[in-house]
Amino acid sequence: MALLELENICKSFKTGDTTTIVHNNLSFTVDKGELVAIMGKSGSGKTTLLNILAGIDYPDSGKYVFDGSEVVIKKTNDGIKFRRNQIGVILQHFALINDYTVYENIELGLWEADLSKHERRKKVDEVLERLGISDLRNQYPDKLSGGEKQRVAIGRAIVCEPKLVLADEPTGSLDNETEKEVIEIIKELNKSLEMTFIIVTHDEEVASCCNRTITLQKL
Ligand SMILES: Nc1ncnc2c1ncn2[C@@H]1O[C@H](COP(=O)(O)OP(=O)(O)OP(=O)(O)O)[C@@H](O)[C@H]1O
Ligand SMILES: [Mg+2]
Repeated sequence: MALLELENICKSFKTGDTTTIVHNNLSFTVDKGELVAIMGKSGSGKTTLLNILAGIDYPDSGKYVFDGSEVVIKKTNDGIKFRRNQIGVILQHFALINDYTVYENIELGLWEADLSKHERRKKVDEVLERLGISDLRNQYPDKLSGGEKQRVAIGRAIVCEPKLVLADEPTGSLDNETEKEVIEIIKELNKSLEMTFIIVTHDEEVASCCNRTITLQKL
């Protein structure tokens, strides 16, 4: 069953007199529970695509259907509403808040969920346990290794149990061994929680762990 469908998406950027065409009639479908890799050369529009999928940016034309409804983003608030508790985002450089503990960083993923403090605590505790970082709960990000930071960022992305997790080069800042650990975590979450993942990567090894790869061409 399809979680999302893109139909003839076109996207270009205008800077002064120059127009850069990034996507021209891009169409694909991702089913619920899939783990999909997006590959392509630098500038082929991978981040632009993730931004469209997250409702951070919108296409010039074409149709985006998520979980049975067409996504129409006219203003910033539409995007925020669309993402709310539906989409988790993981970035290459973690984007953790240094003044917040590991626990508080993960709890941020619940800021739009209508939960009591007790319910929030339960969910954050479960995620800490699942990701094997319970003992780091009171630690601050600057004391963590890259792999630990990425676990926290994954925790923040998944704590609201989103339908879709988008990851932009989640292992791009990690060494080979840590990369494998992070990929194993993503695979485990995908399998046990049936969470759908779309992962942008430059790494064949990461892509080979996914169900399939969509390769974007630079136009
Ligand atoms: N906000 C913007 N304004 C103007 N041009 C943009 C903007 N965002 C992206 N672009 C252009 O669109 C193209 C695709 O950019 P994008 O960041 O999506 O590529 P990418 O595949 O993620 O590359 P990388 O692998 O380097 O991260 C590039 O030519 C880029 O310069
Ligand atoms: Mg990019």
